[in-house]
Amino acid sequence: MKRVPALFALVFLIATGCAFADAGKPGRAAIASAHKLATDAGFEVLAEGGNAFDAAAAVAAALSVLEPQSSGIGGGGLFLLRRASDGKETMVDARETAPNAVDAKDYVDANGEANRDHSTNGPLSAAIPGEAAGIVWIAQKYGKLPLSKSLAPAIRLARDGFKPDSRFLGELAGRKDVIKRFPASTSLYLVDGEAPKEGWVFKTPDLARVLETIAAQGNDGFYKGEVARTLVDGVRAQGGRWTLDDLAGYQVKERVPLTVDYRGWHIVTAPPPSSGGVALAEILNILGGYDLSKYDRVHQIHLTVEAMRRAYRDRAAYLGDPDFVKMPIAELTSPLYAAGLRASIHPDKATPSDLLPGYMDTQQGTHTSHFSIIDKDGNLASGTQTVNLIFGSGFVVPGTGFVLNDEMDDFALVAGKPNAFGLVGNDNNAPGPRRRPLSSMSPSFVVGNDRIGVIGTPGGSRIITMVLEGILAFVGGEQPEKIVANPRYHHQYLPDVISAEKGAFTPDEIAALEAMGHKVSESERRWGFMNAVSWNSKTGEMHAASDPRGVSGSGEVR
Ligand code: DON
Repeated sequence: MKRVPALFALVFLIATGCAFADAGKPGRAAIASAHKLATDAGFEVLAEGGNAFDAAAAVAAALSVLEPQSSGIGGGGLFLLRRASDGKETMVDARETAPNAVDAKDYVDANGEANRDHSTNGPLSAAIPGEAAGIVWIAQKYGKLPLSKSLAPAIRLARDGFKPDSRFLGELAGRKDVIKRFPASTSLYLVDGEAPKEGWVFKTPDLARVLETIAAQGNDGFYKGEVARTLVDGVRAQGGRWTLDDLAGYQVKERVPLTVDYRGWHIVTAPPPSSGGVALAEILNILGGYDLSKYDRVHQIHLTVEAMRRAYRDRAAYLGDPDFVKMPIAELTSPLYAAGLRASIHPDKATPSDLLPGYMDTQQGTHTSHFSIIDKDGNLASGTQTVNLIFGSGFVVPGTGFVLNDEMDDFALVAGKPNAFGLVGNDNNAPGPRRRPLSSMSPSFVVGNDRIGVIGTPGGSRIITMVLEGILAFVGGEQPEKIVANPRYHHQYLPDVISAEKGAFTPDEIAALEAMGHKVSESERRWGFMNAVSWNSKTGEMHAASDPRGVSGSGEVR
């Protein structure tokens, strides 16, 4: 009799492709986030007896205060969780939704072109926020501590203030003109109408009050009552279409993560409404058919770019909100489909992306925020949260202390026309009541026999390829410290160009890629703000690293 469970466990381990389910416990915790004070907030709640999920709630809430240019309770997020006690894996989808009264015509001008001002600035650009509901859901369903404890560090930071870093101040200066359109945004973020200088102490007592209300009342503290009324009145006063029903009806969704096996590694990642998991699965399935280590670096890049190109084409063609759109996910993520795509890749020649528009200098950057956590028991949390573009819509409702997102721009507002990230789409990603816009956020776990990595980054459409390169580096034996710092390259089907950070390729590699028919564009800017942690269950080694591209990021093991 006793042999049956053992046999079952063995079959389970083989079926899941790894020994992770039986890997013991780390005994320490690792947290990497975009701000040292957010990382500290996570450790603070762990010290109070919380688990990785309480820490995720604390870090997410603290980042909402510390990095309003990147994420916040006026935005949303996707949170991938793994509970060590039973191996449960889930993605908490706290993505924003379009309001019920959304009118696609708001986002199209008289010439049929996308109205980028409406989709990226001010109240019309703001979708119904999901972040607060996500934080509450994670803390209450998976955490051990009351919300009052997990939100305490964020409340303290909002009330007492902190000194924003040069990235915050620089990005604020860049968004000043839109912020100036709205009186509450101006008084919150500007000093005498100008972007503040280093040394400025940023306090948000209004946000502290909203967070306290959430800590006391849970979801109702944001989505019903006083806060909800203030938000709806403020949005409508400036021409937005939100209603109380939109807020009261907002729902977090739990989604089954996408998984893909790549050369003995098990990748757990974000399903729709993220496009990240499907694209990663396609790319990894294509690449899994080659032994990349046997190719020279130019051919490694060529094959990877060709896989990226094909995956981003499918992103544009098929993906949208899973609650509204039927998508061939099983087909797109199957090894058989990847084999067909692989067969279409010429070993030495670029496949031109058809119907090419000219090269667009798409948005890239460090806004949006990713954090990665492993706790002492082996629970994992990988969260990416955003207000979309820098300081979201730039619009703060008076009395709330936080900026609203401009996530409406992530919809395909005009089919085939690129959004701020140069991404195209069709009706599958059209705006509609309560729909979630397609995201690129790709919080992921990389699970091997002995090593587990938790990884993610901001960076708009480049998120997926950055996470891919991070996964490949981890699988190749690199540690988080190197992975977050590696130079990056990217291809997204349209525009048909490999964009690369300086240092990603040597001049000889660029020449060789161009000889194969690729166009290479080196970017003056660097992109991404990756935060990754890892644990080696054999040696006990843990790593936590924050991207050197960020200013205040911190990864620590304690
Ligand atoms: O969900 C998405 O894909 C975008 N809203 C993310 C925006 C982003 O990463 C901006 N950072 N550079």
